[in-house]
Amino acid sequence: MTKKKRVFEELELEIESIGFEGVAIARKDGVVHFVKNAVPGDTVRVNIKKKKKSYIETFFLELLNPSPLRETPRCEHFGICGGCTWQNLKYPEQIKWKRQHVIDAFERLGKIPFGEMLETLPSPEIFHYRNKMDFSFASSRWLTDEEVANSDEITNKTFALGLHVPGRFDKVVEVNACHIQPKIGNRLLTEVRNKALEFGVTAFDARNFVGFLRSLIIRSTIAYNQNMVILITKGNAESEAEIKFINWFENDFPIEFPEFDNIIHAINSTRSPVAIDSMKMIRGNGIIKENILGEDYQISPFSFFQTNATQLNQFIGKIIEFADLKESETVWDLYCGTGSITLPASRKCKKIFGVELVESSILDAKINAEINKIDNAEFFCADLHNADIPELLNTLPSPDCIIIDPPRAGVHNNLIEHILKVNAPRLVYVSCNPATQARDCAELASQYKVVKVQPVDMFPHTYHVESIALLERI
Ligand SMILES: C[S@@+](CC[C@H](N)C(=O)[O-])C[C@H]1O[C@@H](n2cnc3c(N)ncnc32)[C@H](O)[C@@H]1O
Repeated sequence: MTKKKRVFEELELEIESIGFEGVAIARKDGVVHFVKNAVPGDTVRVNIKKKKKSYIETFFLELLNPSPLRETPRCEHFGICGGCTWQNLKYPEQIKWKRQHVIDAFERLGKIPFGEMLETLPSPEIFHYRNKMDFSFASSRWLTDEEVANSDEITNKTFALGLHVPGRFDKVVEVNACHIQPKIGNRLLTEVRNKALEFGVTAFDARNFVGFLRSLIIRSTIAYNQNMVILITKGNAESEAEIKFINWFENDFPIEFPEFDNIIHAINSTRSPVAIDSMKMIRGNGIIKENILGEDYQISPFSFFQTNATQLNQFIGKIIEFADLKESETVWDLYCGTGSITLPASRKCKKIFGVELVESSILDAKINAEINKIDNAEFFCADLHNADIPELLNTLPSPDCIIIDPPRAGVHNNLIEHILKVNAPRLVYVSCNPATQARDCAELASQYKVVKVQPVDMFPHTYHVESIALLERI
């Protein structure tokens, strides 16, 4: 019996808006249709992928009439690598939609008034703004549609250096040029890839846990104009090809790339993608320096640091402006990370306490406080979501202002309850996820009103938005 070919229903749609997670939306007969790869103002031909009760998911087939809001993506990997999904949308539109998404979160999810919604603070740089990129080697290269169509022309199927295809831990898109990474990164990628292929060294195979080259990390700073590169391999060089490659990396690479103040070879022999067994410093001491609002920060190879340094002074400056601190005041900085808010804020208040889960971040925060001769900042390593967190927080002087900057999942109920008990006059809630921010502000609404909200663009060409909300005690 021959299998009946499934026929998908085709439609013509006009895109009206962009929803959460950056997917374009069209309405037909009152039903929401989600369309990937389209922008508002486009007319597109799609077919129906999935029909749900309240919406329909579609496959993009053809752009019939392009929107005037479209931008030609600069990146040759646009649509494949999954990184900058908004590179086809003009920048002023990107920041307009980011603000709209924060409004939508407060109106539809939080269902609470949000006071004044300021215009999104644009990023000073919209290309080469990322100060950290983590590229992967893989023994399974993602093939583009064109390569698959012309299958006799496929070369290098078993080696790739680039970025993971969204949702695929084993497949990597070969990245020739990435326009958001530090400028030096593209030359680095080309040279490392060429040498690996020249010496015939193997790339990591995550399924079978074999292969030598695992990842290549680049970190940069603006204030001190420093660059760090970390090559991660699965073990020490053993085969002839591996020995030749590592010899090149240790001896010739530093001459070819004088721009790198720090050159590191690290080994990760484990199945965990983030573990490190050992590090060899080929050049430098493993530290680069950045500056935020006059405070110096040490960045070690694997420590957390905000990724858009071009926007950091404005972003942190706005958080401190919202906090409106006085010299006599006590502040809690919850989820303080390495202290990027805590340290500049310490200059404006009497005493500040930072609390954070990750021990290495707390260590960095303490070192950074010392470097800047800050003695009114105290740091605690603790799980803010633990039921016994009030025990620690109750030992601290009561705050005039609490700064809260949680991860995407937002603030745990235990902590919300405790914040309500503490009842500080002001809260500044910083978030990279307006949906959980709005939900949490609604939880706090019995005692706090949202006075104003500032969306900030830290990640141009993506749908991600940072949002700073000022809450005042009612
Ligand atoms: C969005 S980051 C904020 C970092 C910091 N404010 C900064 O600007 O560098 C969220 C921080 O929350 C920390 N974190 C996550 N879960 C936590 C928990 N349960 N308790 C305490 N800190 C936590 C993370 O380690 C991370 O440093």
